[in-house]
Amino acid sequence: MAAATLTNQEHWRSETPLELAAYYVYDPDGCFIAEVDGILAGICIATVYQHTGFIGELIVQPQYRKHQLGTRLMQTAIEYLNNEGISCIFLDGVLKAVPLYERLGFLPLCRSLRLFGQVSAREFTHITPIQTIDLPQIFDMDLQFFGSDRSFFLERRLRHYPELCWKWQDINGLQAYLFGRVGIGGWVTAGPWVSRRSAQETLPLLEHFQSAIGNQPFSIGVLESTNQTVQLLVQNGMQPNPEPPMRMFLGLVPNMVGSEQCLAIGSPAKG
Ligand SMILES: CC(C)(COP(=O)(O)OP(=O)(O)OC[C@H]1O[C@@H](n2cnc3c(N)ncnc32)[C@H](O)[C@@H]1OP(=O)(O)O)[C@@H](O)C(=O)NCCC(=O)NCCS
Repeated sequence: MAAATLTNQEHWRSETPLELAAYYVYDPDGCFIAEVDGILAGICIATVYQHTGFIGELIVQPQYRKHQLGTRLMQTAIEYLNNEGISCIFLDGVLKAVPLYERLGFLPLCRSLRLFGQVSAREFTHITPIQTIDLPQIFDMDLQFFGSDRSFFLERRLRHYPELCWKWQDINGLQAYLFGRVGIGGWVTAGPWVSRRSAQETLPLLEHFQSAIGNQPFSIGVLESTNQTVQLLVQNGMQPNPEPPMRMFLGLVPNMVGSEQCLAIGSPAKG
């Protein structure tokens, strides 16, 4: 797949052909390419949820950069999302690209941190594998806290990585869930991680995840605004990337109600 060639060149290890194919299956009209003389010069992907949208995977081949192709791909994606009735568009921008996004009207929200490392590996009897039958209640809780319907992507995660999807359920119902995935070269990423309880109370879910993946590090994306989670992860051995991307938005000021419960993002390109 052509898009995977570009993400590979950029060493974006969490973007596998499987992950990129998901965007195309979800909405082929939101996947854009730029061509120069019939040659693939760039890509950009827009994801439509109900009221919000995400833009990700913006790449222009090095030989075609600085000729406004990146800007034009972004403009096309923004126009597409606007036509779909989206009121707020999000993205995670690397710092070098922030001026490009600012010129298009995006405003910074907070840093979108990336942490890497290992936490203690422990198994807990109250943490159990997510099963297909659990999905309806996970979709409900995800809609409540994430604010948009990402059921398509969650179902795919479970189908492809069942061994990396865990939940905490007690007599009061579903308390928390964590989905993982595997990237290029076995690179493991945790998230989305959503909980009704505090980050501290939900740490066992991550420790159980660590036990499931064995003695290897993993990465996790956390919005800086969820302060408690960041502190907890650092205290428990995760190292923040020194130059994290910026979560930015365009359009109506985003409603962040419930975002404290979204402990880790699912993906920089689709929230
Ligand atoms: C970001 C990118 C798509 C821009 O493509 P482009 O066709 O050069 O874009 P434009 O000509 O419309 O705009 C150029 C702007 O891109 C940004 N930019 C320049 N070099 C960059 C780089 N290495 N990485 C990211 N952004 C860069 C700058 O804001 C630049 O504006 P300036 O010329 O005023 O400094 C291209 O640099 C790229 O593919 N970078 C690597 C992948 C990447 O970082 N993607 C963004 C992820 S959030």
